[in-house]
Amino acid sequence: MPLTQHRTTLTQFLIEERRRYPHASGDFNSLILSVALACKSIARSVAFGALGGVLGNAGGAINVQGETQKKLDVLSNDVFLRFNEWGGHLAGMASEEMEDPYQIPDHYPKGKYLLVFDPLDGSSNIDVNVSVGSIFSVLRAPDSTRAATQQDFLQPGTEQVAAGYAVYGPTTMLVLTVGNGVNGFTLDPNLGEFILTHPALQIPPDTHEFAINASNSRFWEAPVKRYVDECLAGKTGPRDKDFNMRWIASMVAEAHRILMRGGVFLYPRDTKDTSKQGRLRLLYEANPIGFVMEQAGGRVSTGRQSVLEVRPSSLHQRIGLVFGSKNEVDRIERYHHEPQ
Ligand code: AHG
Ligand code: MN
Ligand code: MN
Ligand code: MN
Repeated sequence: MPLTQHRTTLTQFLIEERRRYPHASGDFNSLILSVALACKSIARSVAFGALGGVLGNAGGAINVQGETQKKLDVLSNDVFLRFNEWGGHLAGMASEEMEDPYQIPDHYPKGKYLLVFDPLDGSSNIDVNVSVGSIFSVLRAPDSTRAATQQDFLQPGTEQVAAGYAVYGPTTMLVLTVGNGVNGFTLDPNLGEFILTHPALQIPPDTHEFAINASNSRFWEAPVKRYVDECLAGKTGPRDKDFNMRWIASMVAEAHRILMRGGVFLYPRDTKDTSKQGRLRLLYEANPIGFVMEQAGGRVSTGRQSVLEVRPSSLHQRIGLVFGSKNEVDRIERYHHEPQ
C-alpha cells in the first residue's frame, strides 16, 4: 500500500469514537490502547516460538481450573497485568490464570473500569503452531475509590462496556466492540499499529458450517445430539443441505472464522465430569465472545437462554456455550425447549 494512502489506526478509530461523547475523559481509550499493546507484545512472543524459549509447560504449575499452565499462559497473564496496572483506569483485574482478582498496587491510582481476560486461549495449540489468542472484557467498577472485590466482577454480560479478542494467526488481528458494532484491525508489523481492515463486521444469519468436539458425543444431551445428527444427515435429512465441520480447539480462532464467514460453535454442557456446567468460562470467554457475536448480528446462548443475561455466581464459573449465525443458534435453543 503506498505510504501516502490514509489508513485508520486503532488510535484514530478510538479518538473518533470518543468524539461522539463530548464528556468522555479518555480513560477508556487509554485502557483499550493498553490492552492492544499487551496483545502486540504477546503476538511477538508467540511469533518467536521455540526461538524465544516460550514453548512447553511452566514447570508443572496447575491453575485454578486444574489445568497445567503453559509458559505462554503465565507470560501472557503477566503481560496483561504489567501493561494495564499503571494507567489509573482500573479498579482491578481478573483472569483465567489467577484464582482471585488482581489488586492494583497501592502506588498506582485506581480507576472506574474492571478488566477481565483470558490471556491465552487455545493453550493446547501453542506447541503445535496453531492459532491462539487473547480475550478481554471491560466492565464498570461499582466503586472506583477502593480495590475491586470478587463480587464486583460478577456482572452479567449485558453490562460489558467493551469486549474483544486478539488472534495470533497467520496475521495478528484485534477485534473490538464498544457496543456500537464490531470492527477488525490487522497488525501492521512494520508500523507496530493495528489498522482498521474489517469495519462493521456482520455474521451471515445462515450457515452450513458447525464446530463441536465430536469426541464428546456420548456425553451430549438429547437436543445437541439431534442438532448434530441433522447436520450430519446433510441433504438426505431434515435440513436439506450438506454441512461442513471444523474444530480448531482454540475458541478464539473458531469465533474469528465465524465472524468472517458465518458458522456455529457449540461447547454445550454435557454429562462428562469436567463439563457438567459446560467447559468454557462465563466471565472471560463466553461473555466477551458473546458480546462480539451479538454486536455483529449473531447470537450467543447457553442452549437455553442468552449467555449475556446470566447472572454470574463465581469468578471462574463455567457455562454451556453456543454462538454464531443467528438462525442456527435460534434452532439449537428451540431444540432445547422442545420435548425430545
Ligand atoms: P484455554 O486454552 O484458555 O484454557 O481454553 C481452551 C478452550 C477453548 O479454546 C477450546 O475451544 C476448548 O478449550 C477446547 O477444548 P477441548 O480440548 O475439550 O476440545
Ligand atoms: Mn487454560
Ligand atoms: Mn480460553
Ligand atoms: Mn487461556
